[in-house]
Amino acid sequence: MSTFIDPVPQDVADPTTDYPANAFAFRYVLPALLKEPGRRLLEIGVGQGAALSVFTDSGFEVSGFDIDHACVAQTQNQALALGLDAERFTHGDLREPPSYRSICTQGRFNGIVAMGVLPHIADKESSIRNLFDVTEPGGQVFIEFRNLLFAMSTFNRFTHSLFMDQLLHEVSGPVRDAVNHELASRLRMDVPGSVARSADAGDDILETFDNPLTVPTLFADAGFNDVRVHYFHYHAGMPYLQSEDPDAFRRADVALEDDSSGWRGMFLASAFVIHARRPATSSSDAR
Ligand SMILES: C[S@@+](CC[C@H](N)C(=O)[O-])C[C@H]1O[C@@H](n2cnc3c(N)ncnc32)[C@H](O)[C@@H]1O
Repeated sequence: MSTFIDPVPQDVADPTTDYPANAFAFRYVLPALLKEPGRRLLEIGVGQGAALSVFTDSGFEVSGFDIDHACVAQTQNQALALGLDAERFTHGDLREPPSYRSICTQGRFNGIVAMGVLPHIADKESSIRNLFDVTEPGGQVFIEFRNLLFAMSTFNRFTHSLFMDQLLHEVSGPVRDAVNHELASRLRMDVPGSVARSADAGDDILETFDNPLTVPTLFADAGFNDVRVHYFHYHAGMPYLQSEDPDAFRRADVALEDDSSGWRGMFLASAFVIHARRPATSSSDAR
């Protein structure tokens, strides 16, 4: 069976449920994959195996790996519960190709999905080249990043950091001091209160935020073409306002996921997926 089954849960409007951000991304990913005949799919960073059924229910043959051994075990259990071959899910680190070689013995993949993985990796260029190497010529990748430009609409300390560390990083002296003072007095510098460290990645980097205007170049440089940015996980208002009316905010957030402007997500969505294709034939085929 190869058919689109909407991954967004029926109770999406209920603010007491977790926001199904990945489901909105998969609502974009699934139709793009289903348009092509290949069904070999690789999920990198499988986590607890939450996405397995989304892809197997639509007819994909899913394999996966994760750097975290406990995650691999949980995904293998999930695979068994779904009647799948648990050996398709192994330990592996995207930064180290030999670590996931066993998963590639039957060839490259028609589709690759990595949600929440690249934000934990410091050297993105080499990991994107590793993605290219396991993509079948003509195959597609869908790689999630945290959106740096979302800070334009959060009005919190991330907004302060975006201005001071990214936009004005070369401005010094009294101008810098004046802007710093002005922003710090206008923004909610107390939120978010704490930022989780990426302990699950086995390293010590914070989750990185990446710029949707510059990340596509990294994919093009690695040899991918047809590189597109798809925004998801929208926020209709500053996250610190959400508790004022959770029902209204949830409805407004969900409605924005259908935005077709092509640009609002650049500022209102906290995540984006890079959708790119390995050319059907390329000079790197000789690699
Ligand atoms: C934020 S979790 C997301 C899990 C799942 N993809 C999801 O969206 O629910 C990130 C996952 O990526 C894994 N991960 C982080 N760095 C990795 C790497 N270098 N190679 C493979 N997996 C990695 C983590 O162990 C974790 O399971």
